[in-house]
Amino acid sequence: MELTRRINRIEVSPTAVVISAADQLKAKGVDVADFGPGEPDFATPDHIKKAAVRAIEENRTKYTPTGGIVPLREAIPAWHKRELGSNYNARECVVSVGGKHAIFNTISVLIQHGDEVVLPAPYWVSFPDIIKYAGGTPVVVHTRQEDGFSAKAAAIEKAITPKTKMVIVNSPSNPTGGVVDPEEYERILALCRKHNIWLMGDECYSHFVYEPHKPFSIASAKEGKEQVIIIGSVSKTFAMTGWRIGYTLGPEALIQAIVKVQSQSTSNPTSIAQYAALAAMTGTMDTVPPMLAEYEKRRRRIIEGLRAIPGVKCTMPEGAFYAYPNVSEFFGKSGMKSGADIAHGLLHQAHVATVAGEGFGTTEHVRISYATSMENIDKALERMREFFGGL
Ligand SMILES: Cc1ncc(COP(=O)(O)O)c(C=O)c1O
Repeated sequence: MELTRRINRIEVSPTAVVISAADQLKAKGVDVADFGPGEPDFATPDHIKKAAVRAIEENRTKYTPTGGIVPLREAIPAWHKRELGSNYNARECVVSVGGKHAIFNTISVLIQHGDEVVLPAPYWVSFPDIIKYAGGTPVVVHTRQEDGFSAKAAAIEKAITPKTKMVIVNSPSNPTGGVVDPEEYERILALCRKHNIWLMGDECYSHFVYEPHKPFSIASAKEGKEQVIIIGSVSKTFAMTGWRIGYTLGPEALIQAIVKVQSQSTSNPTSIAQYAALAAMTGTMDTVPPMLAEYEKRRRRIIEGLRAIPGVKCTMPEGAFYAYPNVSEFFGKSGMKSGADIAHGLLHQAHVATVAGEGFGTTEHVRISYATSMENIDKALERMREFFGGL
């Protein structure tokens, strides 16, 4: 079959590939300790679920405005202002089918052939492919493990050329849990202003940061709003991955262009999911601290466990729910040559599902999602100890 050059420029998301390989093993009856999916294992809070049920009962099941129902387009900026100190209105907000869709739409209206997008690595798997699908070129800037994989303005500046249209910062980061300090983030914004390029801040994990960090948005900066695009999502903060609601905050002209794309593609995000998201944005935030406290316990357990395995090196994640251990000590042993080989061995020999670093732009790591039970973490750590010990 002849497919377009556009579709041939991208790959299936490596995380989706791992999830499917782990599912195949599970279907054969194998007990897989799953560190694959970046998905909270908590249930969606009750008040949110009830709002969706109410929306169904009240027959709010028709098309909605393409960019989202007005109350939600108002509630998102209000929530963002309350929680993260920004200053947007409903015309500067569009609701999309998850944060990934928000990123896809934003990049598709701003990036075209010949454009470069500066992307700190390790990066979330979807960024490079979304950029390439739009015709742009990802320009990867490697962060340092010693810096907790945090993006630095000085390194980003070196990658800026006359073709650069955008810099993407994802803090807290998937896959490393790295957090960019507010001062450094402001330096990156200053750089974007100087070069007149966009700064896209992916804040999907904004509320999962560990002490001493506090939730932060670059949209709270005093100046530079016209340069900033914020991507957010209810998926992680409210354990709502399956509901598929995310958003973009940015200049009105950009938002209108995104609404235009949605009008010719998805139309509105699911009506009842929007009412659920409205309850999330206007309701209590009390459900977040218990989740964070649980992630914090798991973070300690997993990092201590990983560091206790001779040869595994792991920085302490400062946010999100991922660990990104360096496994390069094992290269050259039992035919292991890369993170991909280690992830393959871990899955098929130790029955522990991880994602190889290659999908995130590094060859020496695997990604572990600790959005899973303590029991599962302990089981997986035991298996990993045995696996690495046997190489
Ligand atoms: C960094 C990052 N951005 C965006 C997303 C998109 O999330 P969703 O589409 O579920 O809102 C994810 C999901 O894993 C992510 O890790």
